[in-house]
Amino acid sequence: MRVRVLLAVIAVSAWPALAGPGWADDARSDRARAWDALRAKLPEARYLRHSVAVEAIMREMAVARIDDADQWGLAGLLHDIDIGETASDLSRHGVVGAQILRDLGFNAAVVHAVNAHDARAGVARTSRLDHAVYCADQVYWLVAATGLSFPSDKLNTALPATVWEQVQAVHSKRPVLGQVSHECAEIGLSMPRAIAAVKSASRKLSQTAAGK
Ligand SMILES: [Fe+2]
Repeated sequence: MRVRVLLAVIAVSAWPALAGPGWADDARSDRARAWDALRAKLPEARYLRHSVAVEAIMREMAVARIDDADQWGLAGLLHDIDIGETASDLSRHGVVGAQILRDLGFNAAVVHAVNAHDARAGVARTSRLDHAVYCADQVYWLVAATGLSFPSDKLNTALPATVWEQVQAVHSKRPVLGQVSHECAEIGLSMPRAIAAVKSASRKLSQTAAGK
């Protein structure tokens, strides 16, 4: 068990290396600020792993010349920043996080996407970024519900269409499939394509963790 916890910590430590070459200075400093804020609010490795995963998925979902991949990654990274405070009252989830990010001076589009990412807060999703955070977050959990870990070799080599069939066979997830499909379609992604973005993100994080 100790070895497993240690590996999880090492993996989480390696993931921020995604803020690597190719980032503009402003984006790099926003990412560093976001990571510091997130670690201060979310000390638990399981939350950090999910946050870094959704960041990577968002970057895969961003469309070149239409979306700002750095901004999309930031929104994914920060979307659950308040979960330590709101887990016992999820009607405040996202709303508290948005206020934290507003106070820290993060971009208004990122603040709104975090505000609107959880249906229980009742905040309308209006932008591509808003829909993308919902889509990326939920598709992550749908894939996890099939038993595929993120990142993992199994996910890295899975066929998205097959994973989508497996998702649809998970009885407990059936009630949310319509809404998730609708939100992903808002950014032009069918469910197999959204799952393909999860797979690509998993592959990249696996490579980063392996130092490739
Ligand atoms: Fe959330």
